[in-house]
Amino acid sequence: MYILGIDTSFDDTAAAVVYKETILSSVLSTELSVHQKYGGVVPSLARNAHAHNIDLVIARALKRAHIDWDVIDAIAVTRGPGLAIALEIGIAKAVELARLQKKPLVAVNHMEGHLLSFLARPLPKRSSLKRNYPDLSAIFPTLSILVSGGHTQFVYAERIGSYRIVGETKDDAMGEAFDKVGRLLGLGYPAGRLVEMMARKGKYTSVRFPIPMQQVKTAETSFSGLKTAALRVVEGIRADHGELTADDISAVAHGFQAASIQHLQEKIDYCLAELHKEGVSVSSLTAGGGVIANTEVRISLKKIAKKEGIPLYLPYSKKLCTDNAAMIALAGYYQAAVGNYVECQETIDRLPTMRLSSDLVA
Ligand code: KG4
Ligand code: ZN
Repeated sequence: MYILGIDTSFDDTAAAVVYKETILSSVLSTELSVHQKYGGVVPSLARNAHAHNIDLVIARALKRAHIDWDVIDAIAVTRGPGLAIALEIGIAKAVELARLQKKPLVAVNHMEGHLLSFLARPLPKRSSLKRNYPDLSAIFPTLSILVSGGHTQFVYAERIGSYRIVGETKDDAMGEAFDKVGRLLGLGYPAGRLVEMMARKGKYTSVRFPIPMQQVKTAETSFSGLKTAALRVVEGIRADHGELTADDISAVAHGFQAASIQHLQEKIDYCLAELHKEGVSVSSLTAGGGVIANTEVRISLKKIAKKEGIPLYLPYSKKLCTDNAAMIALAGYYQAAVGNYVECQETIDRLPTMRLSSDLVA
């Protein structure tokens, strides 16, 4: 099955073509300079950029995949969660193309895309890695760690299409905290990758952050306290010797990153312990979302999986961690494979607060 995927949930305009789990093309357009000017994503500007870029992005995805419309079996589009006025652009375009090209439509939950992104495969000839692909039955049930700019969720996935959120953030998402602390340190937007880079510049232990929610027996995470702690540290440094030096920035970035990863790790441990108590076993640990591009986060997940004696599956490239339409096409493929199509294309609407649930039906 060949699937065209479209995602306009946030600031990236994305389209991709997959053949089953194999990515044939994945195209992304981001008007980063616009958002950087405002230090974050401005919904109306994101919408304008989507409207401006979407036709070109889709055309490029088809061209790079060397695929004509007659080969495409279905169109998959993100229905939510995301910015309402941004989602609308992708959905309207998908509906228009489905009618024009007489294709069935699949509505995808963006978080299911992140959750399944570890299953995507590169074209064999482009891949230098020889990977073994385990059977789905060896992977599921899995505990999926989803950490992005908008979400921090621990999801028990019994199988593809059956999801239970067992823990999530009660305030900021982890990526959002990286962005806010990065902004405080003058690193621009989005800052996650730059915070990681600065943190690596030295093994500073001079700035220690308190680990959130250690005494609270819950699978909830909280990152807003770390952001406030970073603000206090920065104010302290400024009062002491004026503007931040590169060493100061590295020290704060290192302290913040170390504390946020320890917090994440402790809450994943808690989730796994709770699932064990329920008598629920997981066959693997899986992960997706922009923050999974962080090397230290990956190392911490590897440690947890090793301790649990289960395998860890991550997206094969960091580009698959951050937003992309290949993961939407892939999630769409699994739904199309079981005939889960949108019944009435004309009335499909965006769901900005769409949540993962036990029975994802379009
Ligand atoms: O998944 P994503 O592209 O978009 C959402 O669905 O939110 O995630 C973007 C988030 C941003 O907050 C960005 O700062 C963060 O992922 N991020 C990182 C890294 N790369 C991206 N955070 C920490 N370390 C990184 N290397
Ligand atoms: Zn995302």
